[in-house]
Amino acid sequence: MLLELDHVAYTYTTRSQSVAALKDATASFAAGGLYAIIGKSGSGKSTLLSLIAGLMLPTGGEVRYDNVATRAMDLNRYRRDMVTVIYQSFNLFPLLTALENVAYPLELTGLKAAPARAEAARHIASVGLAEDLHRRFPDQLSGGERQRVAIARALATGSRLILADEPTGNLDEATGAVVVDLLADLARRQQVTVILVTHDRDIARQADEIYRMRDGVLLRNDPAV
Ligand SMILES: Nc1ncnc2c1ncn2[C@@H]1O[C@H](COP(=O)(O)OP(=O)(O)OP(=O)(O)O)[C@@H](O)[C@H]1O
Ligand SMILES: [Mg+2]
Repeated sequence: MLLELDHVAYTYTTRSQSVAALKDATASFAAGGLYAIIGKSGSGKSTLLSLIAGLMLPTGGEVRYDNVATRAMDLNRYRRDMVTVIYQSFNLFPLLTALENVAYPLELTGLKAAPARAEAARHIASVGLAEDLHRRFPDQLSGGERQRVAIARALATGSRLILADEPTGNLDEATGAVVVDLLADLARRQQVTVILVTHDRDIARQADEIYRMRDGVLLRNDPAV
């Protein structure tokens, strides 16, 4: 298993109260799998993704990537090299073009500008964006096009784990379907593990497994139901 949740819990503590946002979650995610997480607003879905992304450490239990607990890792490296998070509000650098957004993580690995751009162009082409869009800035692209750039960037980083928090939330149905197809294709063809938070049942149905969050409890959705 690429990723394992072992009795993972998370409690937010503020000055006045504590919120048990995640309670005792246990699950495993295989390489090449597409997983959907559904559940009401406030049920703990984003909290779970933040723990998997290494943005915070569990207050109980362990998140393990390749059998190593995030607690024991260099989290900066994990976040940079191992996981990519795609949000509903497109997290591209606004002052970089589409091509530069995808080239950026490649340059971080030490690749020179020209080969980084060449490789970035390949990744952008692979998500179906026409070449005349490569030089546009994010605010000159449609929502669906921006999500494709975000996916191309995930490909460029080479991360084997993509976490998508409502990636289709700002998109119309047809565009959302294209983005999900792309993620599903990535999972299947490149053995990337995709964990997708969605409110959309049709999208969730495309997943290999569906989990439901209810008041901080993660449940495997029975396929028979
Ligand atoms: N920084 C924080 N401090 C305190 N409580 C928080 C914090 N972030 C989230 N929570 C609480 O934790 C619970 C889970 O929140 P979370 O954002 O994980 O829900 P969600 O399932 O992603 O909801 P949505 O579908 O609206 O995005 C909620 O009760 C929320 O109010
Ligand atoms: Mg959320």
